[in-house]
Amino acid sequence: MFPEHRPRRLRTTPAVRRLVSETTVRPRQLILPMFVAEGLSEPRPIESMPGVVQHTRDSLRKAATEAVAAGVGGLMLFGIPATRDATGSAATADDGILNVALRDLRAELGDDTVLMADTCLDEFTDHGHCGVLDADGGVDNDATLQRYAEMALAQARAGAHWLGPSGMMDGQVGVIRRALDDAGFTDTAILAYSAKYASAFYGPFREAVDSQLQGDRNTYQQDPANPREALHEIELDLAEGADAIMVKPALSYLDVIRAASEISSVPVAAYNISGEYAMIEGAAANGWVDRERTILEVLTSIRRAGADLVLTYWAAEAAGWLD
Ligand code: PBG
Repeated sequence: MFPEHRPRRLRTTPAVRRLVSETTVRPRQLILPMFVAEGLSEPRPIESMPGVVQHTRDSLRKAATEAVAAGVGGLMLFGIPATRDATGSAATADDGILNVALRDLRAELGDDTVLMADTCLDEFTDHGHCGVLDADGGVDNDATLQRYAEMALAQARAGAHWLGPSGMMDGQVGVIRRALDDAGFTDTAILAYSAKYASAFYGPFREAVDSQLQGDRNTYQQDPANPREALHEIELDLAEGADAIMVKPALSYLDVIRAASEISSVPVAAYNISGEYAMIEGAAANGWVDRERTILEVLTSIRRAGADLVLTYWAAEAAGWLD
């Protein structure tokens, strides 16, 4: 009898396929990134990210509550200030938009979700870099660490459960951990953007946060060619006290997610970023791909690669499709 082996037997009915499915995607594994802008009276659509908006404080509160009701595991908040300066003062001010919005959400949601904040200066600086600049215009690592420590404290005071340092400065996790502990925030966790690549797929995010960046982030974010370097970054962040680590972007870096999941002793997150979102929304709007199937396939592939958690702009909507 040929063929002797018939793997198709396990694909014969939906019930069999469900029974043998190897990878799960659950709403609790999805984290929704959200944008809140200072001084808006109405939510403002982000053109390159159809369906995503810059929220007002009110619309943010409502959308966050809905996302949590839909079952998402957490929220990651980004702030867009009305005014920017060289050191990103609005990032550390207690009345800065991100900190104000964190307070709003913590008051509204309490401990019902895991409230996270982007701990990075790029939305707040007038030059758009993730840190402060030195006399030659380069990004000054150690001076930036000082600002991150201050920003972390402002976010912890505002009620963030988890902080997401995303600036790829050396030592950022250790400095933030020490600042939090010294101030008594021993329960505030750090989701370290450990392996973050200098990616063209961040394009739409630049519109999302009105980024002022000229040039690139190649002196601090990683070269897309380097997977071994990602493991080095992860080891350092683990040694500095990261509670969870992240690989970013997700889809062009599934091999890095896999490698990270094999060495990490803490949960691994992957960020399905703006350009990855935009490509599928664009293709789906043209009728070139089936939107829902494509989204679910993408989320499944990121989980299959080894990510425990997935940051995705589809988190709330996809949660409604999943159980
Ligand atoms: C930095 C930050 C960026 C993103 C998340 N945090 C932009 C960058 O590094 O240039 C990108 C997220 C996305 O593209 O969806 N604060």
